[in-house]
Amino acid sequence: MKFFIDSAKLDEIDKAYRCYGIDGITTNPRHIQNSGKTFIEAITDIANWLKENKLEGMDKFPVSVEINPHLDNADDMVKEAKKISKLSPNFVIKIPCNLEGLKAAKRLEEEGIRTNVTLVFSPSQAIQAARIGAKFVSPFVGWKEANGEDAREYMEIISNIYHVKGYKTEIIGAAIRTGREIALMTELDIDIITCGLAVLEDAFIHPYTKQGLEIFCNAWDNTKGN
Ligand code: E4P
Repeated sequence: MKFFIDSAKLDEIDKAYRCYGIDGITTNPRHIQNSGKTFIEAITDIANWLKENKLEGMDKFPVSVEINPHLDNADDMVKEAKKISKLSPNFVIKIPCNLEGLKAAKRLEEEGIRTNVTLVFSPSQAIQAARIGAKFVSPFVGWKEANGEDAREYMEIISNIYHVKGYKTEIIGAAIRTGREIALMTELDIDIITCGLAVLEDAFIHPYTKQGLEIFCNAWDNTKGN
């Protein structure tokens, strides 16, 4: 299973890559806003970071960049996606899963521009994303759970359908908020998870590990000769 970092902040991206071996990046307008940069500055800096780290190429290290969310017709979406995709060979274009978005994503995939169909909240949306050949589909796990919905059932249905049908589109369990959700996505054989750096780091620690270390430190200090 691959781990992507959900961020447009270069320090977070760099740390996640060096320390935890992440496999790609996802961004959205909220992450760009949080980076404190303009859209173009933020994605250009990511493109340069990829070059510096010799990570150019979508298969090496995909980076999802979302189109302007105000766009509401397929023609404009396609136009913007083409502009963004020229900035880096790693860029996969995030397109919202509405009717115009699905039309745009279909056209982009036919023209060889890879897409990530995002804001997916139902199995039928995920099915259509696969049918049009999107590279990635992003069902939002954390948003579902925050709404009191059962993410297990939702993701299990999508995973089963994709396996039965042999769809090539890779599923990104998106907006992951906890280690428990990471484990659930792994159990359900989801291809990728994406989450923020804080979620990732929180998932890698446990209070019992800290407690155990205190016990061992105490033993070490009380060992004869230490
Ligand atoms: C991923 O592709 C999405 O942009 C992301 O997971 C949305 O989550 P957020 O609520 O953390 O912004």
